[in-house]
Amino acid sequence: MKPVKTEVLRINSRRPNDSIIARASKLINSGEIVAFPTETVYGLGANALDPSAISKIYQMKGRPSDNPLIVHIADMKTLRGLVSEISPRAMRIIKKFWPGPVTLVLKKSKIVPKVTTGGLDTIAVRMPRNRIALALIKKSGFPIAAPSANISGRPSPTNASHVKDDLDGKVKMILDGGSTEIGIESTVIDMTLRTPVILRPGGISKESIEDEIGEVRFHDSLLGLRRSTEKINKSPGMKYRHYSPNARVVIVEGSRIRAKAKIIELTEKLKDEGKKVSIMTASKSLKPNADSVQYMGNTLDTIARNLFANLRKADSDHIDVIVVQGIHYNNTGFAIMNRLKKAAAETIKV
Ligand code: TXA
Ligand code: MG
Repeated sequence: MKPVKTEVLRINSRRPNDSIIARASKLINSGEIVAFPTETVYGLGANALDPSAISKIYQMKGRPSDNPLIVHIADMKTLRGLVSEISPRAMRIIKKFWPGPVTLVLKKSKIVPKVTTGGLDTIAVRMPRNRIALALIKKSGFPIAAPSANISGRPSPTNASHVKDDLDGKVKMILDGGSTEIGIESTVIDMTLRTPVILRPGGISKESIEDEIGEVRFHDSLLGLRRSTEKINKSPGMKYRHYSPNARVVIVEGSRIRAKAKIIELTEKLKDEGKKVSIMTASKSLKPNADSVQYMGNTLDTIARNLFANLRKADSDHIDVIVVQGIHYNNTGFAIMNRLKKAAAETIKV
């Protein structure tokens, strides 16, 4: 791709400036790509109905073309045009959580090109809870397909400088609306099945969806997450890189006392090997002899909000190993641990 000049435009997140939204939507309308904030993470947006614009997104991110995109909308009329059916259960989720961080997988209509859905007959749709995103969608007049605005495999961006770090010289415009509110991506739930299945845990927990519509399941691939009591050692070659900083991520899970002791021991060992070590923990009393200690926060909301920025910070500090103290799997703890497990080379259970 020919290098472009990347323009970063600061924009008011409460009252998005009309002139900036107009410039951004002009780019979208001419088949270009714009990075913009949502309430979860920054997205890399293009007209969802324009196959050549969509291809550019895949290319820019280095994303495999069979990994479908989420389509963002600002009103229900657009949703009806994109899907062939909205079940009563899907409607209940929409009424309760939209605009907000839950994405519904529904049967797509004919107007949606297959590049957008990675060749599938279904479409993933959500209405974001962010005024900049909503203004951009409305002004452009099209549904906007947007994956997270990171290079494939890197942690998702939660502010404009993360986007610039990954996509400077590639994307023409970044709308800088400050740090995102939620910090992890939306929950993706397949509503085409008899029992809805969560494909990706995210900003809305399984528990709160079940409060609305009754039983939902986690996809089998997510269930390995909390199983197994012994040490899992993945070889570096087999490592599934996703949400990954350059630093090696090691998770320590177990009772508070044992985990803390293990982290202190591990830190000593790594320091002896000459490694630069950072600790990520939600415990203020953990004081290992590391190069830095990143306090993750005292609620699930703050831990989620800071998660990806913490992972990226370790890279700018040239950290070799990040040792993370695992958190519990309840509510959005499940989504947080899902991101950490995917970023990690190794999990040590004590
Ligand atoms: O919060 C979010 O969802 C952010 C912001 C920008 O909205 N977007 C985001 O997009 O995380 P992306 O592309 O990074 O992740 C989209 C996820 C992928 O796991 C993809 O496989 C899944 O949604 N997905 C998209 N369409 C699908 C479909 N038709 N069926 C099943 N999964 C789908
Ligand atoms: Mg992503």
